[in-house]
Amino acid sequence: MTDLYCVFGNPIAHSKSPAIHSAFAAATSQDLRYEARLAPLDGFAASVAEFVAGGGRGANVTVPFKEEAFRLCTRRSARAELAGAVNTLNFADGEIVGDNTDGAGLVRDIVANLGVALAGRRVLLLGAGGAARGVIEPLLGERPQSLTIANRSADKAELLAEIFQKNASTVNATVNGGNYEKLAGHRFDVVINATSASLAGASLPLPPDLFAAGSLAYDMMYGKGETPFLALARSQGAARSADGLGMLVEQAAEAFRLWRGVRPVTAGVLANLRATLAA
Ligand code: ATR
Repeated sequence: MTDLYCVFGNPIAHSKSPAIHSAFAAATSQDLRYEARLAPLDGFAASVAEFVAGGGRGANVTVPFKEEAFRLCTRRSARAELAGAVNTLNFADGEIVGDNTDGAGLVRDIVANLGVALAGRRVLLLGAGGAARGVIEPLLGERPQSLTIANRSADKAELLAEIFQKNASTVNATVNGGNYEKLAGHRFDVVINATSASLAGASLPLPPDLFAAGSLAYDMMYGKGETPFLALARSQGAARSADGLGMLVEQAAEAFRLWRGVRPVTAGVLANLRATLAA
């Protein structure tokens, strides 16, 4: 029997996850169907219950339900606990088991796909909302020299730095938090945008000279052309840039591995998605 998976979100019509997982399934000869499901804003739990009752085996969760998914789980992985959000659900034996593959996807895209090591590097994370929080533990797992979290509201960045300095499983790095002004005079090797500023048409107030020689600017967002953050980073001297399409594919591959026990090869799927996006 074909196993059923889905992604829950609102909106969900333009999700690329069904195409990504269908390609993974074909490439690994896994008998599964993966569909997009629109959950009402006040009906996430009911949508999950309906899906499980209909034989659903697992699901991804996207905006705006990742925190609600976290609360719905009967069990969670350690990285999901630290992320405070869940993007992957596994339904088995009456349990809802939650994980978060976003950070692993980001790290894999940077390290494996882009070939940029994080170990020993100065990493700057812009933003202190759910998207930022979800990737901190896996970033620290790479043992950077330092992880700096900068945010418009300094208190949120300071709180995240404190939480992860205390609780992350590997903290060999210095973890700092503060506002954008505090970045003045500091340089970074990898700068990751986890804010939603560009959705509001806003530009981040980054001080000049933020980008060290050879640095990578990474935007967790993606779109048809260059994102506003990557354009800003290029104008301020970032040597390399990448948007979040690779992270999207890699978080999906990690979810697929959790469900099916086989890790799909991602390069072809990413190249096809990139071509579709550019068309
Ligand atoms: P997400 O789940 O996408 O992280 P979120 O939790 O609402 O959404 O967080 C949004 C992030 O983008 C926050 O870091 C937010 O900064 P504040 O905590 O100061 O609100 C950041 N952000 C959103 N709009 C911004 C803007 N115009 N300028 C700077 N930062 C912005």
